[in-house]
Amino acid sequence: MRLLLIGFGAVGQGLATILRDQAAYLLERSGFEAHIVGVVTRTRGLLYQPDGLSIDALLEAIGKGHLDLYPTERGLIRQMDPLDLIRTAAADALVEVSYSNLQTAQPALDYCRAALESGKHVVMANKGPAALAYAELQALGQQVGKFVGIEATVMAGTPTLRLALEALAGCRILAARGILNGTTNYILTQMESGMAYGEALEEAQALGYAEADPTADVEGWDAAGKAVILAAAVFQQHLSLETMPVKGISHLTRVDLEEAQAAGECWKLIATVTPDGGQVEPVRLPLSHPLARVSGATNAVTFSTDLLGDVTLVGPGAGPIATGFGLLADLFTAQRAGQLKKS
Ligand SMILES: NC(=O)c1ccc[n+]([C@@H]2O[C@H](COP(=O)([O-])OP(=O)(O)OC[C@H]3O[C@@H](n4cnc5c(N)ncnc54)[C@H](OP(=O)(O)O)[C@@H]3O)[C@@H](O)[C@H]2O)c1
Repeated sequence: MRLLLIGFGAVGQGLATILRDQAAYLLERSGFEAHIVGVVTRTRGLLYQPDGLSIDALLEAIGKGHLDLYPTERGLIRQMDPLDLIRTAAADALVEVSYSNLQTAQPALDYCRAALESGKHVVMANKGPAALAYAELQALGQQVGKFVGIEATVMAGTPTLRLALEALAGCRILAARGILNGTTNYILTQMESGMAYGEALEEAQALGYAEADPTADVEGWDAAGKAVILAAAVFQQHLSLETMPVKGISHLTRVDLEEAQAAGECWKLIATVTPDGGQVEPVRLPLSHPLARVSGATNAVTFSTDLLGDVTLVGPGAGPIATGFGLLADLFTAQRAGQLKKS
C-alpha cells in the first residue's frame, strides 16, 4: 500500500515508526506492506517520491526540524500544491493526520474529498472531517468503491468503532457513554488524591497530556467532537457542536470531589450519545460503575445494547503509537476491502 501522509507531527511519526519497526511482522502475519510515498506538513516541508521514501531518513529529517533535510535523490519532489499532489500522486491511501479543525474541518475535508475522487482510500486521526462530514465522506467512499476509516479519531487505537460496528453488529446499540478525553480524566483522578484543579492541570500540561491552551479539553469540546463522531458512525445521526449541551470540568473543586467520595461516588466527564442526541457533562457515578474505575489518562466507553446488556471497552485514548495503531487497523481494512473487490 502506498501512503500519502497529510501532517507529520506526533501521530504521523507514530504511524511511520510502526511501519518501520513492525514491517517484517506485518508482512509475515497479515500480508500487509506499506510504503510512505508522500508527506505534507504546514511549515516543515513536503516530500513526494513515487518509489517510496525511507522512513529512517524521514524521521531523521523531521527530528532535525524540516523535511528539506531529507537527502536529495532521483525522482524526489519537494514542492507542490497539496491538492494537486493528492489528486495526482501514485498512492493507494491518504492518511489525514493534520490539525483537527472542529469548526470547518478544512483544509483536511477538501483533501479527503480529493483523495476519494481520485481513487484513494482515506484514513484519519483528524477529528474535523469525521465530526463534520462523516456521512458525506462515507457516501462518496461507497460511490467510488474506497474505504473511509475514522477509528483513530475516537479513543486512538482502542477499537471503539470496530466494536460498535463490527463485533456488536446485530445488536441494537441503545446508548454509548464514555470517558473520551484523557486529560480531564487525569485531572479528576489527581484531584481525588488531593490536588487542586490548577495544580492537576499544570501537571497534565507538564506530562504532555494537555495543550498549552487547555480549553478544548477542560471545557469538554474535545470530548464533544468525539461524541459527534460516535453519533455519526453508530447512530447515523448528525449532531452539531453548536447546539449540543457541553459542559467541562473547570468549575469542579476539591470540595465537590470530596463530597462525592464521601457518598461513595466519583466525578467523571461523561460523553453520552443515544439515537435521540448527545451531551457532555461531568456526572457523579457510583464507585461500582465500570466507568468509575477508569483512572488517569485512560479512556473508556460503555455501549448499552438490547441483546448483550452493557459492554465496556477500556484503553488508551491518545499517544502517537496508540493512534498510529488505529490508523494501521483502518489501513488493514482498506487493504482487505481492495482484495475482496479484486477476487
Ligand atoms: N496526538 C494524539 O494522541 C492524537 C490522538 C487522536 C487523534 N489525534 C489527531 O491526530 C491529528 C494529528 O495529531 P498530532 O498529535 O500528530 O498533531 P501535531 O503533532 O500537532 O502534528 C500536526 C501535523 O499536521 C501538520 N499540519 C497542520 N496543518 C496542516 C495543513 N493545513 N496542511 C498540512 N499539514 C498540516 C503540521 O505541520 P507542521 O509540522 O508544519 O506543524 C504537523 O506536521 C490531529 O488532528 C489530532 O487531533 C491526535
